[in-house]
Amino acid sequence: MKGIILAGGKGTRLYPCTISVSKQLLPIYDKPLIYYPLSVLLLANITDILIISTPRDIEGYRELLGDGSRIGVKIAYAVQDRPRGLADAFIIGADFIGDDSVCLVLGDNVFFGQYFSNILEQAKSQAESSGAAIFGYPVKNPKEFGVVEFDSGNKVISIEEKPARPKSDYAVPGLYFYNNDVVNIAKNVKPSARGEIEITAVNNVYLQRGQLHVTLMGRGMAWLDTGSPNGMYKASGFVKTIQEMQGFYISCIEEIAWRRKFITTEHLRKLGEELKMTEYGEYLLSLTEE
Ligand code: G1P
Repeated sequence: MKGIILAGGKGTRLYPCTISVSKQLLPIYDKPLIYYPLSVLLLANITDILIISTPRDIEGYRELLGDGSRIGVKIAYAVQDRPRGLADAFIIGADFIGDDSVCLVLGDNVFFGQYFSNILEQAKSQAESSGAAIFGYPVKNPKEFGVVEFDSGNKVISIEEKPARPKSDYAVPGLYFYNNDVVNIAKNVKPSARGEIEITAVNNVYLQRGQLHVTLMGRGMAWLDTGSPNGMYKASGFVKTIQEMQGFYISCIEEIAWRRKFITTEHLRKLGEELKMTEYGEYLLSLTEE
């Protein structure tokens, strides 16, 4: 399975912070926001990754992450010249995807929870064997998201994009697993009223085909919003608190790469040395002594 991170957008809700810098390069506590979705792909054992961003910002990501060899994976880059919707990622990424299946994660989505790797593995195999796998997560403000509608037997009957009257409190987080059909489905999606090819339209095609798995995430999972200054502040506080309480880092890409054996202990030590002026670097070095 291939992985795509969509890190475009203007980030207008974070102005003036994002007038000159891409939102997903800003920090959530001690690491750039994009580390969080990148770590999701690594946890899903996806090592062939495409980052899509704006013409202005793509170089910033290349400078940060290079070709991925620092963490033992392959990272390629592509440009989205204007925001055409999330499903555009599959059109831009069509050659990259080839005849493989694909996971799309939005560059500003932060997830944290126990057994998350198992959830990811399950979604991956559901998409590969039968079509598509997405998630539902209970939120207080469903109007701001794609929303899952259930019938009385808890069967999913529709997904609505930012409905004025949400039919449930379950939002669809920005993490989607699809088989290769997604490329053609995306190419045939008609733009919505806001002129975008919506990921929700793609999900509804899979739903109509009877090929959409929706797994509900419960209390044990954190899905954090980073779209506003307050969201970024709260997410940073969350990461800081957990890291200080447990001593484990959240979404430390070098650690995940090492635990997944994408890189050796020797290599991890080198990465730690490079950053040893920071607590982050010290943490990497401490891992090599485990
Ligand atoms: C997008 C999707 C929406 C989804 C959300 C998750 O919305 O369109 O369905 O629930 O991401 O972050 P956006 O925030 O890009 O408007």
